[in-house]
Amino acid sequence: MTEPGRKEGFSSNFGMVAAAVGSAIGLGNLWRFPYLVGQNGGAAFIIVYLIITLVISTPILLAESVIGRRGGGAPAEAYRNVTGRKAWGAAGIMGMITCFMIMSFYVVVGGWTIKYLLLSCVMQFHRGAQIDSGALFTGFMTDSTAPIAYSILFILLTIIIIILGVQKGIEKTSKLMMPMLFVLIILIGIRSVTLPGAKVGIAYLFNPDFSSLTFKSILEALGQSFFSLSLGACMMITYGAYTPKSSNLTKNAAVISVSDTFFAVMAGCAIMPAVFAFGVNPTQGAGLVFVTLPQIFTQMPLGGVCSALFFFALFLAAVSSAVSLFEVITSSLMSITGKSRRTSAIIVALVLTATGSVCSLSQGVLRGVTIAGMNIFDQFDYLSSNFLMTTGGLLTVVCIGWCVGKEAFLDEITAGGTIRVNRTLASILFFIIKYVAPVVIVGTAISIIF
Ligand code: TRP
Repeated sequence: MTEPGRKEGFSSNFGMVAAAVGSAIGLGNLWRFPYLVGQNGGAAFIIVYLIITLVISTPILLAESVIGRRGGGAPAEAYRNVTGRKAWGAAGIMGMITCFMIMSFYVVVGGWTIKYLLLSCVMQFHRGAQIDSGALFTGFMTDSTAPIAYSILFILLTIIIIILGVQKGIEKTSKLMMPMLFVLIILIGIRSVTLPGAKVGIAYLFNPDFSSLTFKSILEALGQSFFSLSLGACMMITYGAYTPKSSNLTKNAAVISVSDTFFAVMAGCAIMPAVFAFGVNPTQGAGLVFVTLPQIFTQMPLGGVCSALFFFALFLAAVSSAVSLFEVITSSLMSITGKSRRTSAIIVALVLTATGSVCSLSQGVLRGVTIAGMNIFDQFDYLSSNFLMTTGGLLTVVCIGWCVGKEAFLDEITAGGTIRVNRTLASILFFIIKYVAPVVIVGTAISIIF
């Protein structure tokens, strides 16, 4: 049951955490994290990532959920309600635009995962298969029709969950998909670390070589931590509004962040040992999942089964994250236009089909159309990760630290004094939100610009 006074909401705290973990675990963990680890020298990058996630990202996640639960409603409403100022609504609108940009390229990659899941199911990547995975991937993604059809399929699957609503759609599917995802990644991890020659890959993941760490890798760790925890795009504000009043927000933030990080490291364990066991270059970049891995599956015992499990995991992770992006946009549209969930979701899906198609075509026929030297797909990814999400994160911490203030923050995280939260910990968290996070975000932005 939804609590009185809230139009929609999760039925339990576990449902809330499952949905937020579903948002956090996505292509960022399985696709981006392993290749960033590969490009930035392994364990040292992971250590920096862990520190940033603990010290900076988790408190921001908490700040977002405080705005959401205290403010209630869609992000713009939540911002307005907690600050009492109309102008803050713009921060919520910006979150909606950010999610829209991310979603436009996310559905394209989501479509690729469906294609690769189907290819795996027909055993295209079984041991001994003769495929040129590079040519296969390039041929597919530069095509003008097939990838668009797959991304529309991906949008359709997502919209069904959104139309079913917060409890019957988002909560129910998350409770089902999250445990499955963890089981899958552990199974694939076990296969990977038991391959002959996997030891080098494990050492690469766990023996830090700090000399390979550059300033740029620290910036990338921060950006990745934001992306992976879905920060700065009002995801936790939207889900915060659906959170039961009795939930312990601090504990939830910790659980979400630990689960997401554990999953990212597990994804590293599932991929890197296999990459090293087959002597492939770990710094391959974005093609790691769609080019390098299929090649590896065709050489590995149980490769066919593993490829199906892996692409199924990638698909589940992508859908549950896309649902959260879609929900931020839909709930915002519902509150702006007053239209029903179903109508709003259909409008979002139609516009997304158009922008997603443009992103997809920008890998092929529209490759020549560039904005500041990048094709549209890359530009959307770049702008949202490096500019919009960081600005969104900055607005969140400024809102809590400087407008809402410590008293209201403490009141919300203790649920009006009914939940015990260690006072020192609460003060440290508030200090980070008010001073440390803004300085780090602004400092990072300055260093990216210059
Ligand atoms: N966290 C997701 C991932 O790792 C991406 C994502 C989902 C996201 N929802 C978001 C990023 C909202 C920013 C904002 O793939």
